[in-house]
Amino acid sequence: MNDSRPIGIFDSGVGGTSIWREIHRLLPLEKTIYLSDSKNAPYGIKTQEKIIQLSIKNTEKLLEMDCKLIVVACNTATTNAIKLLRSAYKTPIIGIEPAIKPAALKSSNKAIGILATRGTLTSELFAQTSELYTKDINVIEVEGNGLVELIESGKKDSEQTKQLLEQLLAPMIEAKIDYLVLGCSHYPYLIPILKEILPGDVEIIDSGEAVARQTKSILTNNELLNTVENTNNTPEFYTNIDPQVLSDILGAEANGYKVARLDF
Ligand code: SIN
Repeated sequence: MNDSRPIGIFDSGVGGTSIWREIHRLLPLEKTIYLSDSKNAPYGIKTQEKIIQLSIKNTEKLLEMDCKLIVVACNTATTNAIKLLRSAYKTPIIGIEPAIKPAALKSSNKAIGILATRGTLTSELFAQTSELYTKDINVIEVEGNGLVELIESGKKDSEQTKQLLEQLLAPMIEAKIDYLVLGCSHYPYLIPILKEILPGDVEIIDSGEAVARQTKSILTNNELLNTVENTNNTPEFYTNIDPQVLSDILGAEANGYKVARLDF
């Protein structure tokens, strides 16, 4: 069985391309369509009702485009809306959750940091996972207020971003964390600055590779893989604002990716 329909991926903005990259690396034969809802970013400070409404809008757009599987490449949308999406649609839906479990299991200092949005940190799903794995661990949770906005405006490498991160990470460094969990798909783009600020022995964990492996496994188990080399698998990216930041973050021109503006 071969299924050449695309995998649909959505995020509140450009950050979910960090997840798309891992999926594309692991599954190069798969056609992918990415929706960047930058017009509505950030999701992390919105009500759960609003996050659900936006997640439904994005999912329906991808289903209209005949996607065979949907990846919610946004921690805030996953933690607030995935239950509802899975119950509303028959298409397989994969989400992204902060990698609390591996960090808690590996931490020698018994101290881990979690950088995520308010929407993620206050969600029921986050509370359940945290409760399950971090009983004997000092967890320093920090809201990354302002970070998504800086990345969305093309300032991920700026001095302003560095200064904000220095403030946000101070309590984690003070608590001697040895693992930092990135609980937002935008944050992997901050890894170069994070490494400058954090002590050398702090390991940074994001969920991109795990999501890609999960995507492969769900496609395989549901006989949805595309196994045939074809010429029509150029990745497509759509955003509902000016596409410049999305293009830049992808190196779209150099890589030959299609990036376009779309109203959704
Ligand atoms: C946001 O839109 O606030 C962040 C997206 C995420 O949580 O991954």
